[in-house]
Amino acid sequence: MAKKSNKTRKKPAKPVHPRKPAKPNARRAVSAKTRAKKQPKQKFHVSHHDEAAFDQGLRTYAKYRDLGLAPATGGMVQGHVIRFIPPFVPEDVAKPHYHDVDLQLIYVLKGWYRTEFDGEGVHTFEAGSCWIQPPKIKHTVLGYSDDCELLEIVLPAEFKTVMLEK
Ligand SMILES: [Fe+2]
Repeated sequence: MAKKSNKTRKKPAKPVHPRKPAKPNARRAVSAKTRAKKQPKQKFHVSHHDEAAFDQGLRTYAKYRDLGLAPATGGMVQGHVIRFIPPFVPEDVAKPHYHDVDLQLIYVLKGWYRTEFDGEGVHTFEAGSCWIQPPKIKHTVLGYSDDCELLEIVLPAEFKTVMLEK
């Protein structure tokens, strides 16, 4: 039989730290299931390199290879490889503008690319460089190498570009 404790002294009262109620904006890991409810359904998609896929589109100074991300993500993302057409002609390319996006990420695949950003100065990016252009940041392309190729990922797939006066 267990010996009965004959301690009668009361323990000192513990300080009370009531639990704070969780803030609705508290940073928390959101499960993939929860995210999926808010975003369009995605489907498995592959795009292999294809020289014939480079399309000049509306611009005279670059060809675009669409990676097919927009239909695969229900319009959430677009991605393309941009291959610039030499030589760099400032009158055609160096026009201040911004893009009304949620996210714009660029990665240099080949060559180099130079841009001036409002409040951030002039940056020259080389193969392996990656940057994010915050939504609506004003920028002007100042140059690119003859072999320049960029990978660009933009959210959402459809967005507006606003050209500005010099
Ligand atoms: Fe731009």
